[in-house]
Amino acid sequence: MTTGEQHHVTCPVHRVDVDVRQLGETHPTQCRGHHHRPGPGPPVVRVPLALACRAFGLGGTIPTVPDLLLPTPQWTPTQREIDDLDLMLNDCLLDNPGGFVNPADAGDASPLTLIVDGETAEVAGAVGFLDLLDPEGVPLARLTVQSTWDAGGERYGVVGRVQRLAHIEFGPFRRLHLPPERVRRAQAGRPLLAVPVHRPLSSTDLAAIRNRANDLAATVLLLACVGDGMPSGVSGPALVRATLQGASLLGEARVVAVSAADHGWDEPHGRWSSRNEWLLSSVAGAYGSDVLLLDREVTGNLPAAIASIVERDRPPRHRQGVVIFFTGLSGSGKSTLARALVDHILEQGDRTVTSLDGDVVRQHLSKGLGFSREDRDTNIVRIGFVAAEIARHGGVAVCSPIAPFESTREQVRRLVTRAGGGFVLVHVTTPLEECERRDRKGLYARARAGEIPDFTGISSPYETPTEAVKLDTTNRPIAQCLAELLKAPAMAGWLPD
Ligand code: ADX
Repeated sequence: MTTGEQHHVTCPVHRVDVDVRQLGETHPTQCRGHHHRPGPGPPVVRVPLALACRAFGLGGTIPTVPDLLLPTPQWTPTQREIDDLDLMLNDCLLDNPGGFVNPADAGDASPLTLIVDGETAEVAGAVGFLDLLDPEGVPLARLTVQSTWDAGGERYGVVGRVQRLAHIEFGPFRRLHLPPERVRRAQAGRPLLAVPVHRPLSSTDLAAIRNRANDLAATVLLLACVGDGMPSGVSGPALVRATLQGASLLGEARVVAVSAADHGWDEPHGRWSSRNEWLLSSVAGAYGSDVLLLDREVTGNLPAAIASIVERDRPPRHRQGVVIFFTGLSGSGKSTLARALVDHILEQGDRTVTSLDGDVVRQHLSKGLGFSREDRDTNIVRIGFVAAEIARHGGVAVCSPIAPFESTREQVRRLVTRAGGGFVLVHVTTPLEECERRDRKGLYARARAGEIPDFTGISSPYETPTEAVKLDTTNRPIAQCLAELLKAPAMAGWLPD
């Protein structure tokens, strides 16, 4: 495809000579993928033309050439998947599969899955590689695709071994993420009792660890499990601080941090899942000659030094960040109620508060978005992202968009709780007939006349929340609705009395 000079190629799609150093200036940027770029840049791989065209959304009107050179497809995994990747690359698993698996034939290692969208699965399957990026776009590893599997809902699992492209360098206490091989080398064959720590250690835990280590004449290795969602009752960094404190109370113990993430719960709610049990014992087995698994729930009191670390990390509710999220139809009274709540908080003067109203957000943060399901989801996740950051810093965010979809509201709940904030969902249940009767903006009339498509309640669905404080504003003064909200059990403790 080159035309002699190193930087010049003939674009097989547009049939013109282009200088690849100027792609995007003299020739469509979209065309970038049709050419081999010399010099540094993403690695290129040869792929069939039809597939390349689909990957670039070019349809079927392209001249026939045998294949094209494309950058390796890329994917940003979820934090849980990145944590699993970290464990595989650092060999932190006893039976390390060395890559992502298909749960149908992976036995115990079945939690180690990587799920992508249909297009990525197709391109990765054809190309044979998939580069895995961190959220900032740094390629962490290359996955050599062995197969793909249907994960349902138009999502696909990708199976294959991973090879490191970069080390994860950042994150609190990253220096404590030592691979087993280094820990074992330092131990020089002496017995090591590995204890995965997923919650702050109580006096009972410390006594059990000390007894077992004495019986085995082993050194204690505390593995602070700081993967996504794993530490219970504290943040990841606080779990490491509490574990370091636990080690100093034990005397001789060492502390290593591991990216063991939460792989979900078994029903009934609140029981450790077998996936988590497998993960913790596999990680501990990779480090220690012996393993001690602690119960999921704490028994006994926390030693004072550990309790004070936990208290600093999780202050009482009225000093923790919280998101109060109103959802309901347009005209239901969400914004009015939200404004009354914000005024109440400002009058109290104890907490900082930010309002994220649906209509207002759409003038700034979400300007240009429409009302398709995709745009609404983008809008709500943006609101959720900002609200979670406010909560992370101990503030109150009062949100009042329609937010018609349950899965998106749950996504916001997860964003907020993972940022260490509380989340109170308030469903303003005022019925459609009343919202339509009010029709302050005249939008319902226009929606009924067919002038506004996808109008919530008329031509677009509203999914009723399952778990929420419920308030109907029909024929009730707003002060009365606010008083009822403030008394709701879900609101207890978040605001001063
Ligand atoms: S959401 O669905 O993405 O949560 P959001 O709360 O931001 O919606 O915006 C809803 C507001 O946009 C309504 O109060 C109304 O004023 C206006 N609006 C304009 N078009 C629509 C529509 N098709 N459906 C609902 N609201 C609309």
